[in-house]
Amino acid sequence: MTQPELPVAVVTGAGRGIGAAISRRLARTGFDVVAVDLDGESASRIADEIGGRCAALDITDAEAVRSFAATLPRVDALVNNAGIFPPAAIATVDPDQFRKVMDVNVLGTLIMTQAVLPQLTESNQAAIVNIASIAAKVVTPGTAAYSPSKAAVVSLTKLLAVELADRDIRVNAVAPGGVATEATASFSADADREARFNSLIPAGRRATPEDIADTVPFFLGSDARYVTGQVVYVDGGLTESTVSFLRAAQSSN
Ligand SMILES: NC(=O)c1ccc[n+]([C@@H]2O[C@H](COP(=O)([O-])OP(=O)(O)OC[C@H]3O[C@@H](n4cnc5c(N)ncnc54)[C@H](O)[C@@H]3O)[C@@H](O)[C@H]2O)c1
Repeated sequence: MTQPELPVAVVTGAGRGIGAAISRRLARTGFDVVAVDLDGESASRIADEIGGRCAALDITDAEAVRSFAATLPRVDALVNNAGIFPPAAIATVDPDQFRKVMDVNVLGTLIMTQAVLPQLTESNQAAIVNIASIAAKVVTPGTAAYSPSKAAVVSLTKLLAVELADRDIRVNAVAPGGVATEATASFSADADREARFNSLIPAGRRATPEDIADTVPFFLGSDARYVTGQVVYVDGGLTESTVSFLRAAQSSN
């Protein structure tokens, strides 16, 4: 007896961190996952682990992304997770550095979305999740283009939701707070600084990649059939934690 075909999910930045956790979670949920990453080796490792497919791809390369998309007969879900957040001060950031962050985080999301639109339009369960950040709501000093880029990802999410609604494609965003990944490991390595950071989070700790990944299937599944253009902040209460700052301001030491 032939097995029923699994729905196909494309996950960008799937080689490590949050993207790897999302890929694992979606495979467990019953998706055939296509793991996309600039780093082909890491994408291949994840694909082998979860029994999915992979592609080495720079999401800012529109031509390469279009060629890749043309090899996929079916796409039901897209998770635009690939993103970069290099440190830079706004006073001195080089315009090329600023542009690079906008290219990957914003244009990469748009390019990948446009490329798989034909397949998503054919799907009867099409949904997109964009991985934004709390930086879209509360700016993070020292990361120059990052906050503007994630604010743009949120805006793009809402625009896509409205413009693609007539194709029955839903588009939502998951906005993580601080997450322990390879990209934040050097920050977390300073135990004192990490303890101070955690003390400001109502949940008392930095998120794991799985804390973020576990929210994605809801937006891709039929329980969210009437949910589009929304942003969920998965941040342990961080962006609503004015009380932590007030306590710090009011404390005597
Ligand atoms: N880690 C956090 O604290 C945090 C917080 C909020 C939001 N986010 C967002 O979550 C997403 C994942 O973050 P992470 O911490 O897992 O990052 P990470 O650096 O650990 O992983 C990102 C992956 O994306 C890939 N990538 C980078 N540029 C690419 C490109 N041009 N094309 C294809 N792949 C590319 C990298 O090779 C890497 O495997 C990002 O969008 C980030 O902005 C992270």
